Amino acid sequence: MNTQEILQKYEKSADNLLGLLHDLQDAHERHYLSADSLSAAAGYLGLPASYVYGVATFYTMFSLEPRGRYIVRVCQSPPCHLLGSTDISKELIKVLGIRFGETTADGLFTLEMASCLGVCGVAPAMMINGEVYGNLTVPRIEEIIEDLRRVK
Ligand code: FES
Repeated sequence: MNTQEILQKYEKSADNLLGLLHDLQDAHERHYLSADSLSAAAGYLGLPASYVYGVATFYTMFSLEPRGRYIVRVCQSPPCHLLGSTDISKELIKVLGIRFGETTADGLFTLEMASCLGVCGVAPAMMINGEVYGNLTVPRIEEIIEDLRRVK
């Protein structure tokens, strides 16, 4: 979906700013809000650019820097923690060669911590671009990442 199509989904009301920014960020292949996205949202909703920028920087769920094509979010909440999310996190750090909050040099992966993903029944779990990976084991991590590297 391109920017125009996303804008058209929303009524021109300031109440729609957060939803609109979410969709714009999700639609970008690097999962961030570019300067063009921010100005498109401001123009469409008739809001000052400084206000839209302020909202985008206030919420940690928004990024103003390009992130990886794949956002790897590892659950750190107690049920996943008890079932081994620490080892899963260590393996991801090793396989990707980055720390939490960082993006791989090839622009493919960003590693993030998450709280409960709502799939505790398959703990330990992580989500990559909205797809759940549950019942994780350390050996599966490299397989999952290699599969995504192949797809690109
Ligand atoms: S605690 Fe990890 S998915 Fe709920």
